[in-house]
Amino acid sequence: MGMAVSVLGISGSPHRHGNTETLLDAFLEGAENAGASVEKVVLKELDYAPCRGCNACHKTGVCIVKDDAPPLFDHIFSVDCIAVASPIYSMGITAELKGLIDRAQYIWARKFVLKTLYFPNEHIQHHKGIFISTAGLSWDNVFDAAFPAITAFFNTLGFEYYDNIIANNMDQYNGIRGHPTALREAREKGQQVVRVIEDLKA
Ligand SMILES: Cc1cc2nc3c(=O)[nH]c(=O)nc-3n(C[C@H](O)[C@H](O)[C@H](O)COP(=O)(O)O)c2cc1C
Repeated sequence: MGMAVSVLGISGSPHRHGNTETLLDAFLEGAENAGASVEKVVLKELDYAPCRGCNACHKTGVCIVKDDAPPLFDHIFSVDCIAVASPIYSMGITAELKGLIDRAQYIWARKFVLKTLYFPNEHIQHHKGIFISTAGLSWDNVFDAAFPAITAFFNTLGFEYYDNIIANNMDQYNGIRGHPTALREAREKGQQVVRVIEDLKA
């Protein structure tokens, strides 16, 4: 047996143990049951500033802002799967998550300005990104503005955008625990992605 599949949950909800973090926890539980090693970081517990747009990283490939963001990116690069979770706030992702995504600009600069970083297709296939979200309203389009930012994030980091686990209409369901299928779906998808990554590694 090789090393266990590693899964990192990144919770972008400022509301601890709310709908979104609970859905993320169900995913991580499924992954753990399938034998993965699982961790979770809660962005609101970290200390990082928004990107300054100084473009220093375009010359150096390094972010000059020394806070909790660069070590988190180092951590992300050490795992097989990331599950990035955010509720919908004002039709988009939370400030916590958007702030982190912008801070990945130095990775983007390494790839596209300095050309010192390149992820081969095989690397991308072996690294899976999953987006987890909840929204209050029943609108079908309520997640639409979130997807492009998540796509950009996974692209920058060299993770394949593997799947979404999304649940709208939280107001009517009285929260995620009132939803008929979402928590089960999250558990199943947690198990499934671990098996897929195991097969790729075998
Ligand atoms: C500041 C704020 C803005 C919100 N904006 C939206 C919105 O634009 N559309 C929507 O469907 N729900 C919106 N909601 C509802 C949340 O998306 C929903 O309650 C979600 O399940 C909360 O997840 P949480 O328990 O992880 O905080 C908003 C909630 C807050 C606090």
